[in-house]
Amino acid sequence: MASSLISRHFALPLQKHLWLSAPGCRYVSKAAPKTQVEYDYDGPSMKTSVPGPRSQELTKQLGDIQNVGAINFFCNYDESRGNYLVDVDGNRMLDIYTQISSIPIGYNHPALIKLMSDPSSLSTLVNRPALGILPPENFPDKLTESLLSVAPSGMSRVQTMACGSCSNENAYKAMFILYRNKERGHNNPSEEDLSSCMVNQVPGCPDLSILSFMGAFHGRTMGCLATTHSKAIHKLDVPSFDWPIAPFPKLQYPLEEFTRENAQEEARCLEEVEDLIVKWRQKGKPVAGIVIEPIQAEGGDNHASPDFFRNLRNIARKHGCAFHVDEVQTGGGNTGKLWAHEHWGMDDPADIVSFSKKLLTGGYYHRDELQADKPYRIFNTWMGDPSKNLLLAEVLNVIRRENLLEEVTRSGKALLNGLYDLQAQFPGLLSRARGQGTFCAIDICDDATRSSILLKARDKGVLLGGCGDRSIRFRPSLVFKEYHVHIFLNIFSEVLAQHK
Ligand SMILES: Cc1ncc(COP(=O)(O)O)c(C=O)c1O
Repeated sequence: MASSLISRHFALPLQKHLWLSAPGCRYVSKAAPKTQVEYDYDGPSMKTSVPGPRSQELTKQLGDIQNVGAINFFCNYDESRGNYLVDVDGNRMLDIYTQISSIPIGYNHPALIKLMSDPSSLSTLVNRPALGILPPENFPDKLTESLLSVAPSGMSRVQTMACGSCSNENAYKAMFILYRNKERGHNNPSEEDLSSCMVNQVPGCPDLSILSFMGAFHGRTMGCLATTHSKAIHKLDVPSFDWPIAPFPKLQYPLEEFTRENAQEEARCLEEVEDLIVKWRQKGKPVAGIVIEPIQAEGGDNHASPDFFRNLRNIARKHGCAFHVDEVQTGGGNTGKLWAHEHWGMDDPADIVSFSKKLLTGGYYHRDELQADKPYRIFNTWMGDPSKNLLLAEVLNVIRRENLLEEVTRSGKALLNGLYDLQAQFPGLLSRARGQGTFCAIDICDDATRSSILLKARDKGVLLGGCGDRSIRFRPSLVFKEYHVHIFLNIFSEVLAQHK
């Protein structure tokens, strides 16, 4: 049956990519023949420690061309599939980090291979247009089919962009433009506006600000960087803006034991937000927008309650600040909902929602009034990539067809319960297990132990990422099932036992 499924789903030239043709593959679930995702490897398989000799050789070679300090190892993307990333030394690792949370439905998903092997997709792959001036005929349809089909509540407009940072950067510009047009009462700039902006002076370049939160990560471009406060290395030596930074709640765990303390902590942070808005207005740098992640990811997987976000949204409204929810990392399904802000249960959750990573294309949704009023105000050459919209439409089909959000909720529960158990077993080592869906994290006693755990887990065939000062974050793709959770937990507990 498996091979007949395959022959129906793949074009001949791609036979070498067939999941079943690779050694170590097996048909994992006989009970549910509805998906191709079940063609998965049966577990990690390690031949060398990581990075192996071939990776080291390539790192040296690339080191003559660029900085390679961040490179973990080199990959064999032909051989990678499903939840498993294969490296150039033939090591096969269960990937629970998925390219910094950016692989929605695993490696080489058959539905995507099939789509890309369809001759009608070829011109979209080969010709990358300057979308802002010369979009292809099917662009409106493809946007409707992909991004608009999952638009956040209250938003029917979307602007595509290339990456997370440029999505946020342009979203900030949209918030400033709206703010100034509201101040003017119309959208016709004065002669003085036009001449002063050319030399970076007021009123054309107004002293407006964006309020962000300590621990936030919104990207590395200059504007985004002014709102990023997760690690010094991102910001060092780069000039920035004097914009307000509010504290993000530091919740105590387990949540049910600290209800009162956590509510007080959230109230303290909200109070500070209002104080900062008032202070910056008095300074002559009014806050045009507030930007926040539903879960601070890079900064350490810091959560806050739905109440916190609902109150923050109200504060933004009260003070005339646009409310920008950065879902670059939380969007795409890992929390068990396509957008993490859906957990807040609001009809009007935000003015702007930015995305990238699992959505494959960057961009932002926005309320109508944030539409730039003139051409070229929000613009760059590529403004996204139609081939990514094509892939995204298919990814969304797979998510719906295979009920992947339900799967995420199920495997997320198994993952978090497993982490709770391990935390009870290794109290000196682990703490603060937390998560929503499979978007989970746990704290390690210190940074050095975390590094050692991450490396040992990798050598045993499990890829994980760190975040914050001493957390490990879990970012599997949406095809990470309960049995993958168990493979992970077994290996992880062996690694932890070595650190006891
Ligand atoms: C919440 C958030 N915003 C923005 C970004 C920046 O995205 P990119 O790396 O695509 O520029 C990231 C990247 O990790 C992110 O996690």
